[in-house]
Amino acid sequence: MPGLVIVGAQWGDEGKGKVTDLLAERADAIVRFQGGNNAGHTIVRDGEEFKFHLIPSGILYPDKACVIGNGVVLDPRILLGEIDGLRRRGVDMNNLKISANAHLIMPYHVLLDTAGEVKLGKLSLGTTRRGIGPCYADKALRLGIRVQDLLDEKILRAKIRTALEPKQQALRELSVQRRKLRKEAGEGSVAEGAIEDAPDPRLDLHTMTEEHVNYGHRLEPHIADTSRLCWDVLDAGKTVIFEGAQATLLDLDHGTYPFVTSSNPIAGAATVGAGVGPTDIDEVWGVAKAYATRVGAGPFPTELEDATGRHMLEKGHEYGTTTGRERRCGWMDLVALRYAVRLNRMSSLAITKLDVLSGLDTLRVAVRYRSREGALLDSFPYHQSILHSATPEYEELPGFSADLQECRDEDELPPEARSYLDYIAEFVGVPIRLVGVGPARDQVVWLGG
Ligand code: IMP
Repeated sequence: MPGLVIVGAQWGDEGKGKVTDLLAERADAIVRFQGGNNAGHTIVRDGEEFKFHLIPSGILYPDKACVIGNGVVLDPRILLGEIDGLRRRGVDMNNLKISANAHLIMPYHVLLDTAGEVKLGKLSLGTTRRGIGPCYADKALRLGIRVQDLLDEKILRAKIRTALEPKQQALRELSVQRRKLRKEAGEGSVAEGAIEDAPDPRLDLHTMTEEHVNYGHRLEPHIADTSRLCWDVLDAGKTVIFEGAQATLLDLDHGTYPFVTSSNPIAGAATVGAGVGPTDIDEVWGVAKAYATRVGAGPFPTELEDATGRHMLEKGHEYGTTTGRERRCGWMDLVALRYAVRLNRMSSLAITKLDVLSGLDTLRVAVRYRSREGALLDSFPYHQSILHSATPEYEELPGFSADLQECRDEDELPPEARSYLDYIAEFVGVPIRLVGVGPARDQVVWLGG
């Protein structure tokens, strides 16, 4: 498995961190290639819980290179907080390498993200408000600040000055709009105090430059040519895992736009976001929960707002690692999963949290959609209006009541659980290689030897 990509097959939070952690055992380098601290991975090791937002899940292995690739957007304050936290817990950080070409999430990106969401009001996307969209927008506009800029104060100051001016203007305009809105609706009626009337001290050029020069000093030992590093590892016949964040249906191009993130979490993006070639990818693992969840706004055909949805929420502890928000829950959507299989050309599937479904008499999986006009749709519709009003048609499968958390072998799974997995694998045409039956690292069942 020299080049292996791990991607989310649904709307995120599928448990990619745990799968990466397990597969990383056989890898030499683990690379993140997109997204930023909008992600959240939880790994349980020897009863100890580790939460990561930026640092690749492989950091707990002292002998493996752990890379933040050029396609990632990173908030240096958050990254340093994560580095310090892990160091305090005795984790060796020497193997952390950060691409000099990765873009930085600056304070104005965070403010703009929040301001944009507040402005959209009821139409807001439900972003994580970590500045992801505005940072990628600046990258495309060629107004971005890169990690390497932290190492040259003169360049840094000049780039911040150029980038800052339009932000101050945009934030001022939003602030005026907000004041008007507040006046119209009456004082105190605007719930979110995102935009202050006074100039924000975080937006001062001098302060921001000083602060970032300091970040640069601290990050310097980790800054590297990470594309070259990946090349060297692959060229030596060793294994690199490319760890995706978010997921296929949140992909900027192929997801449920505009309710998506601002990067490409699909497997193809690993090449651009890490600086390797397409032929360096040998395997693609998709990770899906045994049911489905989504945070933030946007279409979710199999969403359940009933007792079954609550069962999934509570038993699955479906609260965001990054924002603490309740996740929307629903049945496994095989139309969407098959779409994800195709977009990523998946070679293997990992199904997580199968244990959460125990106690449900009947399990349902969506096998097609019906459009508002009554047409049957076997594949994921490309037109957003069709998707937004589509209703799923289900296949019913028998549920199981046994607690799966102690299962470690395929034979220990109840026959109904195995039939459920077989049905999924057959429907999407990809073998399931790994099944999660609890949060701990060893709570997994490997399938097919
Ligand atoms: P952003 O990535 O913060 O811009 O948010 C855009 C959309 O992606 C929102 O619906 C978020 O809830 C969703 N999102 C971003 N990161 C994650 C993640 O790691 N898991 C699940 N949803 C995410």
